[in-house]
Amino acid sequence: MSKTGVKSKTSVKSKKTEPKAVEERLVPIFVMGKRYEVPASLTIQKALEYAGYQLVRGCGCRGGICGACGTVFRYPNSYRIDVGLACQTVVQPDMYIAQIPFFPGNKAVYDIESLPAVGGTIAALYPEVFKCVGCGTCTRSCPMDIDVLGYISKAIQGDVTAVAEGSFDCVMCGLCAARCPAEEVQYNIAILARRLYARHIVPRAQHLAKAVEAVEGKKFEKALQELKKKNLDELKKIYKSLELEPDIAGEFWTPKDASFLGE
Ligand code: SF4
Ligand code: SF4
Ligand code: FES
Repeated sequence: MSKTGVKSKTSVKSKKTEPKAVEERLVPIFVMGKRYEVPASLTIQKALEYAGYQLVRGCGCRGGICGACGTVFRYPNSYRIDVGLACQTVVQPDMYIAQIPFFPGNKAVYDIESLPAVGGTIAALYPEVFKCVGCGTCTRSCPMDIDVLGYISKAIQGDVTAVAEGSFDCVMCGLCAARCPAEEVQYNIAILARRLYARHIVPRAQHLAKAVEAVEGKKFEKALQELKKKNLDELKKIYKSLELEPDIAGEFWTPKDASFLGE
C-alpha cells in the first residue's frame, strides 16, 4: 500500500477472476402445441434444436438462402398467422410454431430447350396465374421482400423478362403459395420465367463457354490428379493457405498462385 492509501501496482496480488457466466433469459415457446423453454436470443431453427428436435428436413443453409425452413407462427393475443424463415426469425415469448418445410405446389414439367420465351408459355403451363385477385398477401408473406404481386402481374401481362428480373432473389420457400387465396404457385411460375430468360433471352455467357471448353480440354486434369493423391490433412493445409479473393475484386482477379487453375 502506498502512503496515499492507493495500492501500488507491485503490492496488488494478481488475482485471476473467472469470467462470469451470463445467464440467458429463457422464454416459453410452443412447437406444434408442446411447450418448451428456450434462450430468448435463439432463432426458431436453433430453438427447435435446443428443444431436442433433430432437423433432417426443413433445414439447409442456415443463412436465409436455401428457402428450406419455411415456418408458420402466431404471436400471443394475435389472430394473425405469420410466416418466416426459421433460420432468420428470432423466437418471441409464447410464440406458437409449426414448420412447413415443403409446400406441395403445382409444378409443370417441360423441356426448356423447346419452349418459346413468350408470355403465352407461362399462360399455357400455369393458366391459374389469371386467377390472381391482386390481394398482395404473397408480397406481405415473402421473407425476401420481393414484390411477388408485382411479378405475378407481369406474368399475367406476358413479360417474361420482368418476371425473371423481379423474382431474382426468390429462395423458393413456398410461403407465398401457402397463403395465396387463388392457389398460385408463384415461385414455380417465377423459375419458369428465369429459365426461359436465361436459356433464350440473354446472350450466352462467353466466360462460361470458355470455362466449359477448358474442363472438356482437361486443362485442370494435372492439378486435379495431384490433389487426389493428397491425404485429408494435406488437403486442409492447402485449403487454408489459399489466397482469398478480396471483397472488392476486379472482374479478372486470379490468385497469385494459379497452379490449380491449370496456368
Ligand atoms: S396472394 Fe395470390 S391472389 Fe393474392 S396477389 Fe398474390 S398471387 Fe395474387
Ligand atoms: S417469392 Fe415466394 S417462394 Fe420466393 S422467397 Fe418470396 S415467399 Fe418465398
Ligand atoms: S435453412 Fe436455408 S433459408 Fe433457412
